[in-house]
Amino acid sequence: MPVSTDLDDAVAVLRRGGLVAFPTETVYGLGADAMNVDALARLYRVKQRPASHPVIVHLPAPDVLDEWATDVPEPARDLARECWPGALTLVLRRAARVTDVVTGGRDTVGLRVPDQPLALAMLASFGGGVAAPSANRFGRVSPTTAADVTSDLDGDVDLVLDGGPCTVGLESTIVDCTGDTPAILRLGGVPRERVEVIVGGLVNLRTDGEVAAPGTLASHYAPSARVVVVESREVDVAAEQSLAAGERVGLLALSGTAEGPPGVIVLDAPTDADDYAHALYARLRDADRLGLDVLLAVPPPASGIGAAVADRLTRAGGPR
Ligand code: TXA
Ligand code: MG
Repeated sequence: MPVSTDLDDAVAVLRRGGLVAFPTETVYGLGADAMNVDALARLYRVKQRPASHPVIVHLPAPDVLDEWATDVPEPARDLARECWPGALTLVLRRAARVTDVVTGGRDTVGLRVPDQPLALAMLASFGGGVAAPSANRFGRVSPTTAADVTSDLDGDVDLVLDGGPCTVGLESTIVDCTGDTPAILRLGGVPRERVEVIVGGLVNLRTDGEVAAPGTLASHYAPSARVVVVESREVDVAAEQSLAAGERVGLLALSGTAEGPPGVIVLDAPTDADDYAHALYARLRDADRLGLDVLLAVPPPASGIGAAVADRLTRAGGPR
């Protein structure tokens, strides 16, 4: 499958209704023209995603928001102004022209302006919205490099636009602004604390709610290796049990927080919560490359982006 660093190639593919994997600051997206229902139908097929699950529309700039959404409340405008371009998705009432295929039949739409120079240039040149889920198959680990996309979706994408590794490494924070008060549907690149400062009040977490968003299913972002979330002081016992059962065991923890007992393969340790977010999906892929049966994962402290890292680890370890 062709890999290019030229945004004109990507725009040409989008214009003719093709699929382009493109970089964002969070993860690589699998993009299609958000107004082209045939392209969107193929997107869902490749992604193996149920038709009822909506996809995010990526916009070139905050000022086109009202072409895609209606009844935009003040907190949403504040969030867009402060966080875009950035790792924040707003769920809003959709404008009439937005197709059911993008929204999964809902009357709401997820919108975001990504903070990635190549993506922004592609979107500006394309001039429309680009619908894009993460460029992995349903339920698998999200890609953070062009090579990740190629290994996951080989042959099913018309072009991979290579913008290098993603700087944030975790998906966007999703904030539902359609209710009386904003609610976070998915933790991500913009910390909850920042959202609360901007909207000027506490924001509910509805990440286990009835909203059928795939990134909120118990088991998601999962490598083949079993992910077991542990605290530092539990590592020895957990490792001993798995090793005794003849399993190949790995450890992922912030540097300096946990020692790998003998026999345990210690993965490259992130230095802080941002670095943990940045490296997380690459480490989950390493776990599979190394043929691990079990990955013991010690989450970072659950504040700021650390909360999103802890969330992904828990879901990676969720029941399959
Ligand atoms: O960082 C990101 O958000 C990446 C990059 C590519 O932008 N995209 C991403 O897309 O993670 P995806 O499809 O893997 O996850 C998007 C999530 C899904 O859980 C989806 O259900 C939810 O956003 N979503 C989209 N539109 C929605 C809506 N109208 N209401 C509720 N949830 C929505
Ligand atoms: Mg995803």
